[in-house]
Amino acid sequence: MSYQTIYEAAGGAPAIREIVDRFYPKVQAHPLLAPLFPEDIRPVQEKQYEFLTQFFGGPSLYSDKHGHPMMRGRHLAFPVTTERAEAWLDCMRRALEETSLPPELQEIILNRLSGPAHHFVNS
Ligand code: HEM
Repeated sequence: MSYQTIYEAAGGAPAIREIVDRFYPKVQAHPLLAPLFPEDIRPVQEKQYEFLTQFFGGPSLYSDKHGHPMMRGRHLAFPVTTERAEAWLDCMRRALEETSLPPELQEIILNRLSGPAHHFVNS
């Protein structure tokens, strides 16, 4: 029996890139999320690409460049409310729906992100 990472199952680097590319325009258009993010979203987008690559079992791009993720800590500077966590996940759900990933895999990805999103709530 062979096991695959989410990264492999999704199709590797191009798939993560597509998710991130589809995700941030939704974040930037969301009334609850947009005010938290800088106008030039590209550096955030790049870090998210690196982070999700490693989070889903691909190469450790994020840690190699930025050290230990400590992702909850990195979010403490921003008021993350439950409403914002739900909004973030909804943007991700809609981004995934625009891809051609199988719906079961979309569900797995979303579930995998739901824990961290709620864990980052700090306000
Ligand atoms: C719960 C709702 C969330 C909100 C409101 C939120 C908001 C933010 C904000 C405002 C930033 C900083 C942007 C800047 O650099 O100016 C950020 C960075 C980041 N977020 Fe989130 N985020 C959320 C959830 C998540 C989740 C679930 C993940 C991944 C599991 C994630 C991964 C990241 C990464 C990788 C960065 C870049 C960190 C760095 O600077 O190295 N975020 N987020």
